[in-house]
Amino acid sequence: MRILFTGGTGKAGRHAIAYLLARGHRVLNMDLHPLDLAGVDNRIADITDAGQVFDVMASYAGFDELEPGTGVPRFDAVVHFAAVARMLLKSDNECFRVNTIGTYNVLDAALKFGVRKIAFASSETTYGMCFADGERKPDYLPIDEAHPTVPEDSYAMSKVVNEATARSFQRRSGADIYGLRINNVIEPHEYARDFPTYIADPALRRRNIFAYIDARDLGRMVECCLQVDGLGYQVFNVSNDTHSVDRTTQELIEEFYAGVSIRRPMGPRETFYSNAKAKEMLGFAPQYDWRNEISR
Ligand SMILES: NC(=O)c1ccc[n+]([C@@H]2O[C@H](COP(=O)([O-])OP(=O)(O)OC[C@H]3O[C@@H](n4cnc5c(N)ncnc54)[C@H](O)[C@@H]3O)[C@@H](O)[C@H]2O)c1
Repeated sequence: MRILFTGGTGKAGRHAIAYLLARGHRVLNMDLHPLDLAGVDNRIADITDAGQVFDVMASYAGFDELEPGTGVPRFDAVVHFAAVARMLLKSDNECFRVNTIGTYNVLDAALKFGVRKIAFASSETTYGMCFADGERKPDYLPIDEAHPTVPEDSYAMSKVVNEATARSFQRRSGADIYGLRINNVIEPHEYARDFPTYIADPALRRRNIFAYIDARDLGRMVECCLQVDGLGYQVFNVSNDTHSVDRTTQELIEEFYAGVSIRRPMGPRETFYSNAKAKEMLGFAPQYDWRNEISR
């Protein structure tokens, strides 16, 4: 596929793009900064500027696309990751502005240029636990996509708004637009660096509901979204199968979730951040487990 990827220079995008390139796709990365990776084309553009977004959406990916003499090809899919990627990076209102207007511009341009498949980055923070003032417990466990999304911070608010924006664009266009409620992204080098600390103090992972997603598995999830058509508007939790800490599910429930409804029997190390919907509807199958990665 010919894919326009926004925000691909960032932590998550660079691994997703590497995965897509390895699978034979053509990727144009639209970001404020170029990604230095063989095989990827870059275009410097700001998603908050609709003119720039519309231009890139109607642009050659590289010089080779001039050769056939048949004009600019259409993108087969858009993957939208560009964002102010958490609270406390910029002012709250700037984070909200960039993320909501930027997402509107990317979806608007994609659909007006006939793109029929869009995957965009939403976030675990929509559920309200991650950036709560103090401790906020889930309404129930495991957290599935039906759990209420009522966050307190402007970053997560922007992601909730983006989901509403995407849902409305999908209704008008009939295209496939899939939102990825991504959990905490872990790059390969972070296992050895960070997980010993998580083993020593599991409470460090409470705000992530003890879950994580390997960056390479996130790339796998993006490709699942590109391959499975016809689902309309959907949101998917994105996480690995097990917790990010060296405790059993039952031990974590007893220590951190007393009084929280546990809706079904859970496996001994099963994540509280349910990825069942992505598995069932997209065939998502994460490959990386921190227990195997930590010693590499
Ligand atoms: N990293 C995580 O743990 C995590 C978890 C949940 C969701 N997400 C979401 O996944 C996506 C990627 O996250 P990340 O960790 O790679 O973030 P990141 O900050 O590393 O990367 C974001 C990229 O977006 C680009 N960008 C920012 N503003 C832009 C603008 N106005 N125009 C064009 N490009 C712009 C940045 O230059 C950067 O390369 C984001 O939407 C983020 O909210 C990330």
